[in-house]
Amino acid sequence: MDVINVDYDGMIPNNVGLNQDIRVRKALEKWHPGYLDWWQDMGPEGFQQSLVYLRTAVSVDPKGWAKFDYVRMPEYKWGILLAPQVEDRKVPFGIHRGEKAWQEVPGEHRAMLRRLIVIQGDTEPASVEQQRHLGKTAPSLYDMRNLFQVNVEEGRHLWAMVYLLQKYFGADGRDEAEALLQRRSGDPDTPRMLGAFNEKTPDWLSFFMFTTFTDRDGKMQLEALAQSGFDPLSRTCRFMLTEEAHHMFVGETGVTRIVERTCQAMRDAGIDDPYDIDTVRRLGVIDLPTVQKKANLHFSLSLDLFGSEISTNAANAFHAGVKGRFREERIKDDHQLEGGTYPVLRLVDGEIAQQDVPALSALNMRLRDDYVTDCNAVAGRWNRAIEAFNVPFQFKLPHVAFHRHIGEFAEIKADPDGNNLGDAEWQKRQGEFLPSDSDRDYIEGLMQPQYEPGQFAGWISPPKVGIDNKPGDFEYVKMA
Ligand SMILES: [Fe+2]
Ligand SMILES: [Fe+2]
Repeated sequence: MDVINVDYDGMIPNNVGLNQDIRVRKALEKWHPGYLDWWQDMGPEGFQQSLVYLRTAVSVDPKGWAKFDYVRMPEYKWGILLAPQVEDRKVPFGIHRGEKAWQEVPGEHRAMLRRLIVIQGDTEPASVEQQRHLGKTAPSLYDMRNLFQVNVEEGRHLWAMVYLLQKYFGADGRDEAEALLQRRSGDPDTPRMLGAFNEKTPDWLSFFMFTTFTDRDGKMQLEALAQSGFDPLSRTCRFMLTEEAHHMFVGETGVTRIVERTCQAMRDAGIDDPYDIDTVRRLGVIDLPTVQKKANLHFSLSLDLFGSEISTNAANAFHAGVKGRFREERIKDDHQLEGGTYPVLRLVDGEIAQQDVPALSALNMRLRDDYVTDCNAVAGRWNRAIEAFNVPFQFKLPHVAFHRHIGEFAEIKADPDGNNLGDAEWQKRQGEFLPSDSDRDYIEGLMQPQYEPGQFAGWISPPKVGIDNKPGDFEYVKMA
């Protein structure tokens, strides 16, 4: 079996030798029509017949794995792609540290592994569902193409998790694979499993914030699962991470382009005060304080995805060698955490205080800390874009206690600086921190489609370079 190049001969492109694995191939072929039905029902609305300039993986070699071509989305080559097996790989952490990595699911960790795979799998189709209306208001064909690229890859990530369920978890794996096609983002009866994936993504600023902050949570989870002693999960996640990088690029550069357009318009009009919101909005661009509010919303929703700061599940998963830490291999400790502590922010007598807790129970907090560091780097890059225009404004990520629904701070109502406001004050002032109805109405009013090749809506700058180095007026999507 060629683990680098992808076999496109059968119905399901793969580098896992599916042609020889008749049981799994049959199971996936049975699942496939339901997947396509789901894609037709819940995938990008109104563009299923359009030709989209997409990249498809043709290899899992880090250099040159992608090929670009026009594709109708329902004909995209979704497939099963694993990073190459690392010769003689060992379980890198936990009680089994140093033992041979598992090629089959260890019986004692089966339920835990299945749960983690199902939760990861559930997020993938959820974001496609959340974003399905956005094509209709795309600010350019370039952006529309990027949206669809993200969507087809989230579809592929669902395939990745379904492959693991079908191959390694027998009948209950097949049931879970089916259920992944049944739940729906935001559905009151059968919602997706995690909160942020049941929220709406009503406009393109939300989309860029989602791909910046929520896809970045995905990156952290995949990084932690890529460490897994269960080798097929590790290899799947390592390849997914190469695709995830593009999603975060789309988000971060999308916000940068919005910010640059706003600053340019302010400069052209001679407006110095970024807080003069009405005047800035008269220019047809998104004022920076509103961009900050959107960041507050999506950052805080994404923090909830890390779960409780102190978690027995996380401790068990690490101890078992199933889910590791961000860049486990670069951490200098015993990789077992039987002793040692980690500082955790907690609510103590109504006050936010730092406490040292056993390191093993603080793994969610630790992963979240790594995530926050990553997010701060992004905010720093956005701020440099603003500085280039000499506009006196700086983005600042809110305190981790702000607007939380899970964990230590779920009970308090903190402002972005971490001061507990209490319910009444929060009710009065939340519109200062989170998008208000009128902010949403304003942004919604801007969301007019721009489908002319090379043209961009007035609230966003063109990108510096095209996808696949295409020229500015390239027709990334050919409407049907
Ligand atoms: Fe994904
Ligand atoms: Fe993603």
